[in-house]
Amino acid sequence: MAVSVPVIFNNGKTCPVIGLGTWKSKPGEVTQAVKDAIDVGYRHIDCAHIYGNEKEVGEALAAKFAEGVVKREDLFITSKLWCTHHRPDLVEGAARTSLRNLGLEYLDLYLIHWPQAYKEDGELFPQEDGKTQYSDVDYVATWCAMESLVELGLAKSIGISNFNKSQIERVLAVAKIKPVVNQIEVHPYLNQQKLFDFCKSHDIAVTAYSPLGSPDRPWAKPGDPQLLQDPRLQAIADRYNKTVAQLLIRYAIDRGMIVIPKSVTKARIQQNFNVFDFKLAPEDVAAVAALECNGRLCSMSDTDHPHYPFHDEF
Ligand SMILES: NC(=O)c1ccc[n+]([C@@H]2O[C@H](COP(=O)([O-])OP(=O)(O)OC[C@H]3O[C@@H](n4cnc5c(N)ncnc54)[C@H](OP(=O)(O)O)[C@@H]3O)[C@@H](O)[C@H]2O)c1
Ligand SMILES: *[C@@H]1O[C@H](CO)[C@@H](O)[C@H](O)[C@H]1NC(C)=O
Ligand SMILES: *[C@@H]1O[C@H](CO)[C@@H](O)[C@H](O)[C@H]1NC(C)=O
Repeated sequence: MAVSVPVIFNNGKTCPVIGLGTWKSKPGEVTQAVKDAIDVGYRHIDCAHIYGNEKEVGEALAAKFAEGVVKREDLFITSKLWCTHHRPDLVEGAARTSLRNLGLEYLDLYLIHWPQAYKEDGELFPQEDGKTQYSDVDYVATWCAMESLVELGLAKSIGISNFNKSQIERVLAVAKIKPVVNQIEVHPYLNQQKLFDFCKSHDIAVTAYSPLGSPDRPWAKPGDPQLLQDPRLQAIADRYNKTVAQLLIRYAIDRGMIVIPKSVTKARIQQNFNVFDFKLAPEDVAAVAALECNGRLCSMSDTDHPHYPFHDEF
């Protein structure tokens, strides 16, 4: 029987292996989802300014603190710096905005959401003639501002998201505080083995996002492959008497990753956490990994941005 063993970061802090994802969770649904998750045993919530629902997440946290169900130090809360706030003088204000919305005094983890910087201070997706407006701020400068947040006590740990190998190398070359995490898309159609191994070799943990194949991503098209419906996964899940979702979550954990499945449905929130009574045999991890097909689901359309991360293999 496997138990929920937290991941230990390179700064000695720990992170619960399962977190609740909140992207696309509607403001009217996310408060109940976070309450349900905490009741079921989740202690890690993955948030971001761009999700537009941090205030409603904060309402759930406040309710659970008031009920005495959990204390602040029992929870692990992540937020992310949006692309329009990369300029170093904007980073602290952005963090404070997320803290105010969440009703918290510190974040457990604050991530640079994407390496690409956008034109500051206006729309979250600043557009001109139908094209996203960029900023020439370098994420390396942003990283130095992220480090000040730790010194100010606003974030216990800092990390990155959607960074590729050479981008991580550039951050590591200047970092006084190393990123603890790179949060990236990981599932059987995009296993990220090389980037995972690279991160591991630098003592950077990996958080797997869209672990269920993000069926509710806004750009999903009819006929797109559906990870949760893959009969090859169903056959393996059946042998463990588990659902495909549970298999996918366990797959990430058994590879040594943190995983953040999103749901606003209580039964699924519960199901997705009910994965600590089994463990995949190494040959089943290999069988799932064999479904690799470079099937990236989340990129951004700004492929001509100088810091767009996904041109090369990793
Ligand atoms: N750093 C980044 O750039 C980035 C990018 C993408 C995602 N993320 C983070 O990662 C989280 C997870 O990724 P994601 O939201 O893209 O997708 P996901 O977790 O792979 O999939 C979420 C979808 O799966 C459904 N679902 C959940 N549990 C299920 C179950 N047991 N059975 C069947 N369906 C189930 C959910 O439906 P219901 O909600 O309707 O139940 C929802 O439609 C995000 O919410 C976000 O926090 C980060
Ligand atoms: C299979 O899983 C279901 C749902 O968790 C449970 O009710 C049932 O007892 C399990 N069956 C076996 C054979 O373990
Ligand atoms: C990472 O992204 C940068 C910026 O787009 C690109 O120049 C580089 O080739 C990429 N490196 C890898 C290893 O993918």
